[in-house]
Amino acid sequence: MQIQIDQTRLMGELQTLATFTHAEPASNGTSVSRIVFSEDDLRARAWLKELAAVEGFDVRDDAVGNIFIRWTGTEHNLPAVATGSHTDAIPHAGMYDGTVGTLGGLEAMRALKRSGFRPRRSIELLMFTSEEPTRFGIGCLGSRLLSGTLDPNRADALEDDDETSLSSVRTAAGFAGSLSSVPLPPNHYHAWIELHIEQGPLLEREGIPIGIVTSIAAPAGYRFTITGFGGHAGALLMPDRKDALCAAAELILSVEHHALATGAIDTVATVGTCDIHPGAVNSVPSRVVLQLDIRDTDPGRREAVMQAIRRDCEELSQRRKVTIREELINADAPAESSSHTLRLLEEVCKEQGILSKKMVSRAYHDSLFMARIAPIAMIFIPCRNGVSHRPDEYAAPQDIVLGTRVLAQVLAKLASE
Ligand code: GLV
Ligand code: MN
Ligand code: MN
Repeated sequence: MQIQIDQTRLMGELQTLATFTHAEPASNGTSVSRIVFSEDDLRARAWLKELAAVEGFDVRDDAVGNIFIRWTGTEHNLPAVATGSHTDAIPHAGMYDGTVGTLGGLEAMRALKRSGFRPRRSIELLMFTSEEPTRFGIGCLGSRLLSGTLDPNRADALEDDDETSLSSVRTAAGFAGSLSSVPLPPNHYHAWIELHIEQGPLLEREGIPIGIVTSIAAPAGYRFTITGFGGHAGALLMPDRKDALCAAAELILSVEHHALATGAIDTVATVGTCDIHPGAVNSVPSRVVLQLDIRDTDPGRREAVMQAIRRDCEELSQRRKVTIREELINADAPAESSSHTLRLLEEVCKEQGILSKKMVSRAYHDSLFMARIAPIAMIFIPCRNGVSHRPDEYAAPQDIVLGTRVLAQVLAKLASE
């Protein structure tokens, strides 16, 4: 089947989506910040729904704001084939993370429709709420709930930095139903395929346009609260201090040290936020909150790194006379793609004469949670220098179009089963 992807339209839509942002313009690319349930996020959602409605697709959203755009198949009682991604963006991100899979998914459906294809199974595009952890501290909020991985009550009680709960934020955004209505059963979807930029350098480096993701590394998140004794930066004598930030600095280096010490390229650990109380130049920090993101393809090795960090915490809290409280945010298992979806993707690439490579995703994606309720696979396309979560994130139009075409072909195969 010949499928024509409308490059001009798709690239135009990616550009339009990038205008729904509250980021400062960046000199090195397109800076996008689109935090879940912010005004920009809500505008982006309304715009996406409008694009889908114009096409005649059915649109609905659930209680956490996940959007479902359905092209009904001739056998609409069969489990649908699903695709999609997210449109939220961390502060000062780029314009391709998540958006390529969302708008590419929409274009894949439109392209199939234009080609005259009529799906047997319905094809559904999902836009997940809060894949990024920026606002509520935990990633993949929408897909965690949808896959029944996150307890609805715990989700509703999550708070943002202003101590506003998810429950009130989503209600204010117009999503008022009970979160217990969000989970879908394991047989709800026939399969799930997500198109995404690689966010790493391998495809570009090796000159391969398509990555076929076989597994997704296991992410975990922790919050450390370090409490010491602060006071006046001039008057509090050095021997009397229990500087929480100095202790935090040691903890951050311990994280780096133990992640490196595994010797495995797949162990990665990052302290990406540091909140200092009271946060004044002339005040000794009395409390610091750090957020740790740690991932590995091997969850056992990830846990061994955590144990080593905990031993350092104990030693350091005694030596510096501070308390260190550890809170688990999430500790997820890795996900495997299904052999069937992998085979179909390889088949598509072979039929189309497209060079592809099987690979691991070190970034997490909503696919990690969709794997709990459906056979999954992901399609990666190259991004320049492997850069992501930065304004200079870039994917070439021809790669976006190729990824979208591969997505359309595999959706067609799955929807015909
Ligand atoms: C997703 O944004 C991730 O942090 O892997
Ligand atoms: Mn991201
Ligand atoms: Mn993403």
